[in-house]
Amino acid sequence: MGKPKVYVTRLIPDQGLDLIRQFCDMTLWQDDLPPPRDVLLRETHDADGLVSLLTDSIDPELMDACPKLRVVSNMAVGFDNINVSAATERGILAGNTPGVLTETTADFAFALLMAAARRIPEGVAYVKAGKWQTWGPMLLMGPDVHHSTLGLVGLGRIGAEMAKRARGFDMRVLYYDVFRREDLEQSLGLTYAPLDDVLAQADFISIHTPLTPETHHLMNRDRFSKMKSSAILINTSRGPVVESDALLEALRSGQIAGAALDVTEPEPLPADHPLVSLPNCIIVPHIASASAATRGQMAEIAARNLIAGLKGEPLPSGLNPDALGHGRSALPKDW
Ligand code: GLV
Repeated sequence: MGKPKVYVTRLIPDQGLDLIRQFCDMTLWQDDLPPPRDVLLRETHDADGLVSLLTDSIDPELMDACPKLRVVSNMAVGFDNINVSAATERGILAGNTPGVLTETTADFAFALLMAAARRIPEGVAYVKAGKWQTWGPMLLMGPDVHHSTLGLVGLGRIGAEMAKRARGFDMRVLYYDVFRREDLEQSLGLTYAPLDDVLAQADFISIHTPLTPETHHLMNRDRFSKMKSSAILINTSRGPVVESDALLEALRSGQIAGAALDVTEPEPLPADHPLVSLPNCIIVPHIASASAATRGQMAEIAARNLIAGLKGEPLPSGLNPDALGHGRSALPKDW
């Protein structure tokens, strides 16, 4: 009997690839850019399993183009690129990689907050441009981070870790989430407030929600108008949670003071997009979970999810356990 056929949509760390190779007949897309849609549809037609990234749209068309597909394993915590209910209807198991990236991502969100507040990229550019002539009593001044107020929009795993970091800087931490977390209010000293109040009071707003129809353009013109003119927005969640045009307008008009974005709308943001050249906007290429250790662990979890799904076992990190034993995941295997 052969091995199950799987398609991996990009080169991922060996911690995952080595496991996949042991158990599967793997086809690996080796380009730096994601496989184009037609390639993905063609190459996956006989796949039993798929390791996808957030850059791959896993929709009903794709699911129907690969009739043997039993498992889609996304190497990311976010899974807005997968139509999970369509997968469940077909009995296709879906998995993600939460947990291992929580602290790494919070570290990065806090780094963006610090970089924007203390104007680090502007300082680096100043030195590189040969402008540094002397110590300047008023050069590149910014707001203090310590003892300021952080507003968290979304208090999941990553939001809670961000709160911990903020407490180390003696920040007051407010949060808004659709789920109130009184346990974390107690243990981390957080204050719950309605979204508009969080926006009105915070010096820094950090977004930690998944992208869903409810959070799409959560940060829009109206929401920016509620923020302090001195406030800085940090986004490490998903780009479309923030409406790009509204952010551009808010930054240009001084409605808010700055932004630091790991994720953008659209993504990637073209180099000639007006947000890129604004001095009060820091943009980095979706790297918040990119520590070597974390990316290795994400690849390993993605591999373990894939292999469990191929075996017809519950995924270590499954998004739709209800799909197990139904539809595709219940079909006889021909490998
Ligand atoms: C990255 O954005 C992830 O969802 O893991």
